[in-house]
Amino acid sequence: MIEFESVSLRYGNGPLILRDASFHIQPGSFHLLTGVSGAGKSSLLKLIYLASFATSGKVKLFGRDVLSLSPDELALLRRRIGVVFQDFQLLDHLSVRDNVSLPLRVTGKYGDKERDNVAELLAWVGLGQYVDHFPSQLSGGQQQRVAIARAVIARPAILLADEPTGNVDDHMGIRLVDLFEELNRIGTTVIVATHSTTLVSEYNFPTLRLSKGEVTAIPPRKGKIGRRGVKVAAKGKADKGKTNEG
Ligand SMILES: Nc1ncnc2c1ncn2[C@@H]1O[C@H](COP(=O)(O)OP(=O)(O)OP(=O)(O)O)[C@@H](O)[C@H]1O
Ligand SMILES: [Mg+2]
Repeated sequence: MIEFESVSLRYGNGPLILRDASFHIQPGSFHLLTGVSGAGKSSLLKLIYLASFATSGKVKLFGRDVLSLSPDELALLRRRIGVVFQDFQLLDHLSVRDNVSLPLRVTGKYGDKERDNVAELLAWVGLGQYVDHFPSQLSGGQQQRVAIARAVIARPAILLADEPTGNVDDHMGIRLVDLFEELNRIGTTVIVATHSTTLVSEYNFPTLRLSKGEVTAIPPRKGKIGRRGVKVAAKGKADKGKTNEG
């Protein structure tokens, strides 16, 4: 589904951010992407969501060399990829509801049912009371959850989440990763970039580790994939979402 063949990347005349990276991500898998700050995690994700292109080597998505795609094909492919940006990239002039429903509206699929789904998802991430707020009225962690809701609402084929729990507490972090796992169960291929040691220790997923420009694929540890059975006190049911809608 995502194939890198000897991919190198540098910005301008700068150092190599990726050198000869080769790996293959199977459809329906769930990976962590780890590495210290500055290792190149966001840069690698950008190559997958087609915001930048390799300096050399080949990137293939859905079996297609990304350099062989026409602008229309690129646009269509991008719609199948949900991205939680590290800096959220919410649209300030749109309400929370409108930010989250945007991916549905660009595909012309936004009726009553979808509107309900948006409200339900926002309630699930604890933002039921904020649907009519604007991003500037929200905390960093709340904005991050809006970004996550927007990335998952259209059930993308690929979900790329860049440090998606960096601004929320541990409990909410687990709730959000649960949401990604839920999406993964119904078929989405997921990659979560993180330098959170909590995330890495609480979960057992195959991992791509990025260090000094090199990508190493690390298989999951023995045992259950996903959350490692560490009990986190169930803290109510998020908020049930008083959305003031009839
Ligand atoms: N547009 C750009 N132009 C030039 N250099 C860049 C650009 N984007 C990133 N870099 C450089 O590439 C390197 C990797 O950056 P990147 O953002 O991919 O790291 P990261 O692993 O995501 O870090 P963090 O964990 O802090 O988010 C850094 O040295 C950064 O300065
Ligand atoms: Mg980053």
